[in-house]
Amino acid sequence: MTPQNNTLQRVSVRVPATAANLGPGFDAIGIAVDLWNELTVEPGPFKVVIEGDGAEEIPRDEHNLVVAGARAAYEARGAEFPEMRFHCVNGIPFARGLGSSSAAIVSGIVAGFALQGDGADPTEALELAAEIEGHPDNAAPAILGGCQIGVKSGEKWITSRVALPDDLYTVILIPDYVGETAHARSVLRDEVQRADAVFNIGRSALLVNALSTGQLDLLRYATEDRLHQPARADIYKGLNTIIRAALTGGAHGAFLAGAGPAVMAFTTGRENTVAYEMTEAARLHGIEATTRVVRPTERGAHVVAR
Ligand code: HSE
Repeated sequence: MTPQNNTLQRVSVRVPATAANLGPGFDAIGIAVDLWNELTVEPGPFKVVIEGDGAEEIPRDEHNLVVAGARAAYEARGAEFPEMRFHCVNGIPFARGLGSSSAAIVSGIVAGFALQGDGADPTEALELAAEIEGHPDNAAPAILGGCQIGVKSGEKWITSRVALPDDLYTVILIPDYVGETAHARSVLRDEVQRADAVFNIGRSALLVNALSTGQLDLLRYATEDRLHQPARADIYKGLNTIIRAALTGGAHGAFLAGAGPAVMAFTTGRENTVAYEMTEAARLHGIEATTRVVRPTERGAHVVAR
């Protein structure tokens, strides 16, 4: 880290959307995709201005996660948290399982460090973000970009980038209702049967190998899960039908995005057909939804203007 200079400047940062889990990699694997939130912070009386996705639902007070992230960056330096104006332009769908909370926290952290004259140290940013969120699977790809494995050893977070095929796309079905991560976690059992653990361990390994070697025909199996999707299928009616529809449409694999309710499919072609099949399957269950076709991004959070 470079030394602090406490001169406040205007700083803008961009942070990508992320999908955690990718099926079997619960709380441990995530991927960044080409949808972005932009945050601009400048000195001035405290104010939070929000445009774009979720603008009506997101708190504008001290509970705002952007503010929490920036505060954490100042506290990490033992510095006083100054009064600032936050302007968020949100392109990431809010509360759908696409990492909007992580993006908010990470944007605040990166802006907070930049305003103190620091480049954002990715490891420290990840530690702060994971501490606020409790798991690194969105924060790691939000900070570092690409597909990231994140594990904790003692107090330390270890990350590793998974190489992705150049021609990989994602098709994302975004239901018109929001998900509640705390609820989607509360339906999960604390105990896991050994057979289910083995099921997921094998598939997580298969997933990483399939992506990094381009064996895309394996993704259909590698995105299967028994740790969280079965229980979450009870709160997200139609989840299994939508996943099957994506595969029928030509996707290589499909899974619940993070804690949902969005569903993501991996494709290398036939994106419109996959999007159509997923939308029709959702509609069969009375779910109105939009779809986005986006590429993964290898770029994570970054400062765009000072
Ligand atoms: N891994 C997390 C979950 C992501 O599935 O609950 C949501 O924050």
